[in-house]
Amino acid sequence: MPALDTGQVIAVVGAGAMGSGIAQVAAKAGHPVLLHDAGAGAAHKGLDRIAAGLARLVERGRMDEAERGALLARISIVDELAALAPAALVIEAIVEKLEVKQQVFAELENLCGDEVILASNTSSLSITAIGAGLSRPERLLGMHFFNPAPIMKLVEIVSGLATDSEIAESIFATAENWGKLAVHARSTPGFIVNRVARPFYAEGLRLLQEGAADVATIDAILRDCGGFRMGPFELMDLIGHDVNYAVTESVHAAYYGDQRFTPSLLQKELVDGGFLGIKSGRGFFQYGDGVEKPGAMVCEQRSAPEGVILQGEAPFKEVLSRLLAQAGIDFEQQPGDFFAIRCAETTICQSDGRMATTRALEDDIDNLVLFDLALDYEKTPRIAICKADNTSAAALDAAVGLLQKIGKKVSRLDDVAGLCVMRTVCMLANEAADAVNQQVCSVPAVDTAMQGGLNYPAGPLAWADTIGLDYVLEVLDNLGQTYGEDRYRPSPLLIRRVAGGRNFHE
Ligand code: NAI
Repeated sequence: MPALDTGQVIAVVGAGAMGSGIAQVAAKAGHPVLLHDAGAGAAHKGLDRIAAGLARLVERGRMDEAERGALLARISIVDELAALAPAALVIEAIVEKLEVKQQVFAELENLCGDEVILASNTSSLSITAIGAGLSRPERLLGMHFFNPAPIMKLVEIVSGLATDSEIAESIFATAENWGKLAVHARSTPGFIVNRVARPFYAEGLRLLQEGAADVATIDAILRDCGGFRMGPFELMDLIGHDVNYAVTESVHAAYYGDQRFTPSLLQKELVDGGFLGIKSGRGFFQYGDGVEKPGAMVCEQRSAPEGVILQGEAPFKEVLSRLLAQAGIDFEQQPGDFFAIRCAETTICQSDGRMATTRALEDDIDNLVLFDLALDYEKTPRIAICKADNTSAAALDAAVGLLQKIGKKVSRLDDVAGLCVMRTVCMLANEAADAVNQQVCSVPAVDTAMQGGLNYPAGPLAWADTIGLDYVLEVLDNLGQTYGEDRYRPSPLLIRRVAGGRNFHE
C-alpha cells in the first residue's frame, strides 16, 4: 500500500498542544486538513496557535507570507465529528483516557468510509487496547509524534496486535513524505523512546540520591562529556516532574514492577511538594527573575606530573596519546592486562562499573583514580573522576593536574559505581538492546528513535559498539554486583552479541 497522496484529506481530532502541531505538519505537506475539538473554542485556539507559530517563522525569514497563507487555508475547523467523513486518515490527539479514545474511534469507524485509516497519538496507552471493540481494528495504529510536532523529527509508527502491516507501511511512508523520521514499533509500554530513555533520568536521580555530586555538576557532566543537549535535572525541570514521574510510574506498572523502571523517591518528593520544574518556578533548580543557575563543581588547578606510562590497550588510547603529546607530557607505552595511566604513585583507569574503593582492593591497586566515559575524549571540555577511599590526596592531585594539563576541566564525584556517563550510557544501551530483544523494534530503529526523538548525540546501540560490547557487559555486571539489584541485569541480546563476538551494527 503506497503512502497517502497529498490530495487525500487528513482529519485531526483534538486541537491541543499535539493536535494543532500535527495539523500543521499535515497541512505543510500539502494535505487538506479537517481539525475538530470537542472543547468550546478549542479548535479555534489551536488554529490561532498554528497561525502565531507560522507568523514567527515568517518573521525569521523561514517561510514567506504566501506560503503561510496557503498552509492556513488548507486547515478547516469542523464542529461535528460527522464532518470528518471524507478523511483518508484520522489522527486522534485527545485526552489520554482509554475509554474516551475507544469511544471516539468507534464513532469514527461508523462515520468514515471503510478505507479510512485511524491513528492515535497516545504516548502511554496500548494500541491493541484502543482497538479492542472496533469492527476494523486492523485499520488502527499509533502515530506517536513528539512535542512540538512541527519541530521534532521522530514519529513512532506503532502496530497493535491487530494492525495490518501494509497499513503500518503506508503510514510510515506518509510520515516520511511529511519530512519526518519514521520508525516502526510494536505496541508495548513506552513504545521505544519513552521506554529506552528511562535510565537517562533514573541514573541521574540515583547518583543524586547517593550524593555523588550536586545537580548542576551531574548535568554538566552529561552535557559536556556525554554530548547530551541537556542534563537530566534541567531536562526533567523542563518536562515537568508531574509528567516525567507519571511516565516512569506508568512504564514501571505496565512492566509489572520491573526494577529497571523503578521510580525515584527524590522525584516523588518534588511532585508531592508541588515543585514541578520551570512551570512552577522551582524543581531541582530555582527559576525567576535574577535567579542564577548554580555552576558545576570544578577541581582547583594542580600541577601535572612530568611523565606517564600508558599501560595496556583501550579504544581511546590513540586520542589520549595525542592529547599527551600536544600538552608536552612524556609518555611511554607498556603492555598490560587492562588499560591504565600510571604517573608517580597514581593509577588512573576508566570506570568499569565498580566503585574505585572495591576495585582498588580486588585488583590490589594503590592510589586508584577512575575517570568517566566521554563521547569524544578529544573534544570533551570536562572529565569526571572519583578516587578510592584510600587513595592519597597527593595521588588525586597528580591525576587532576594531568587531566588539566591535557586541556580538561575536572569534576570530582564521590566514589559511585560506574560514575555518571558510563553507567547512564550502558543502561541506555541495555534498555535499547532489550527493546530489540523483545521484538519492539529493530536495531536501526531504536538508534534512529533516540537520536530523532530526544536529540541524543549517538544511538545507544551504536555508542555501545564503540565502547566495546564486552566492556558494556562488564560494566552492567559490576553495577549489578555492587547494587545487588535486578535493575542492572544485562539484556540477553547483549550477552548473545558478546558471546558471538559481534556488534549490534554489523
Ligand atoms: P491537550 O490537553 O493539549 O489537548 C487535548 C485536546 O483534546 C483538548 O483541546 C481537548 O478539548 C480535546 N478533547 C478532549 N476530549 C475530546 C474528545 N472526546 N473529542 C474531541 N476533542 C477532545 O493534550 P496534548 O498534550 O495535545 O495531548 C493529546 C494526546 O497526545 C494525548 O493522548 C497525549 O498522551 C499525546 N501526546 C502528548 C505529548 C505531549 O508532550 N503533550 C507528546 C506525545 C503524545
